[in-house]
Amino acid sequence: MTEHLEKNKKRNIKIGIVGTGYVGLTTGVCFSELGYNVICYDKDKEKIERLRQGITTIYEPELDKLLKKNLNKNLFFADSPEEIYPHVDVIFICVGTPESPDGSPDMSYVESCSIDISQYLDDYKLIVEKSTVPVRTAEWIEHTIRLYKPDAEFDIASNPEFLREGSAIYDFFHPDRIVIGVSSKRAKDILLSIYNDEDFPCPKLITDVKTAEVIKHASNSFLALKISYINMIADFCEKVGIDVDVVAEGMGFDKRIGRSFLKAGIGWGGSCFPKDVKAFIKMAEENQLQFTLLKEAYNINENRIEIFIQKIRKTLWVVKGKNIAIWGLSFKPDTDDVRESPALKIIPHLIRDGAKLRLYDPKAMENAKRVIPPSDSVIYVESIEETAKGAHAIAITTDWNEFKNVDLKKIKKLMITPIIIDGRNIFNPQEARELGFLYVPIGKP
Ligand code: UGA
Repeated sequence: MTEHLEKNKKRNIKIGIVGTGYVGLTTGVCFSELGYNVICYDKDKEKIERLRQGITTIYEPELDKLLKKNLNKNLFFADSPEEIYPHVDVIFICVGTPESPDGSPDMSYVESCSIDISQYLDDYKLIVEKSTVPVRTAEWIEHTIRLYKPDAEFDIASNPEFLREGSAIYDFFHPDRIVIGVSSKRAKDILLSIYNDEDFPCPKLITDVKTAEVIKHASNSFLALKISYINMIADFCEKVGIDVDVVAEGMGFDKRIGRSFLKAGIGWGGSCFPKDVKAFIKMAEENQLQFTLLKEAYNINENRIEIFIQKIRKTLWVVKGKNIAIWGLSFKPDTDDVRESPALKIIPHLIRDGAKLRLYDPKAMENAKRVIPPSDSVIYVESIEETAKGAHAIAITTDWNEFKNVDLKKIKKLMITPIIIDGRNIFNPQEARELGFLYVPIGKP
């Protein structure tokens, strides 16, 4: 009984989420699934209207199901500040921090929601940064709120998210760790009550706010660095005729290194790594440090596109007039997100070379069409088999499971010449070659 009461008390914290991008929407939906009353707010009225109808605005496995399950029970959507701020105790800031022309993040959305919040601080509220933000953002939020409401009572905490697109719901409920950056006991207690051991039995690190802000940047940049490292190893493996996946496996057994994020290919994309790496380089510069290590990781990543294009040119000899099937448009599998997708960076080069492209992606075609509209050189088709019809080659640009499970024998029959240039190493080279393909992987013979 006491446990039940405790739980009810805990669930009584009313949660507000500002920004319904993939971080905000996932976080809001998942907190509602845990039983909290959640209000998600976005300035984009059209988006909110769709969400109110139970239609998800991004593709994320399980999200649709959980949204529909909790909608209008304990999950609500707001399109104006007065519909959210007076009614919540804890506000998670999940608004975008897009890249400015100089590489630093544009903090205007964070500033504008801080000003909005200041208008509703009649009693204590906890404001939590969840978006990836530069160090000292909390200080700026506090400064901004005080400018508008000097005597407001509030705390600011940093609780960075480590959700991966494509597995964001799973990651929310099974985090490796939870980082809580706070400057008061009150804020710490509230966040530890939300992230209690029963719901989240994982390590929790309590730090000051600045440290939590930096942990997020340091983590993302390290992962990007790790991928760039294995991509350089892949180039080296190619030169000496050995298999990068076997090298990665051998490295990965060492617990200090670990096997994950050692998948070589055409590089990292998405809304996080490219932006966050640049932001961290910029933050270092602002603090009189040259983060050349990260700059190099970034350059290695940029170069992956050119390396892949060269592979295609070398394999096809003449690209002009060739029909090329493009498998995958999203920046990684299980998402419809095409932001900074390596696939979309490769396509314009092939168009310039005079190729005719047939594009397919299980989820990202609508988003891709907005960036690369259909044209004389580009046709979007509805299935993987369709891409292969009359193709001189297949270029694999995203490692969707659907592609791994395809019947290659059937695909070969549809093609003019059986060539696969695999930017994600999804097939076993020997097996593909035994089927009669000219198979060109990354970082292996
Ligand atoms: C990344 C982080 O992994 C999350 O922890 C973090 O919360 C998130 O950014 C964020 O800051 O919001 P995400 O961008 O969704 O998540 O995707 P990742 O799974 O990290 O993949 C990023 C890119 O690296 C993809 O293009 C992927 O194809 C590529 N990648 C990943 C590789 O090329 N090789 C690998 O071994 C792993």
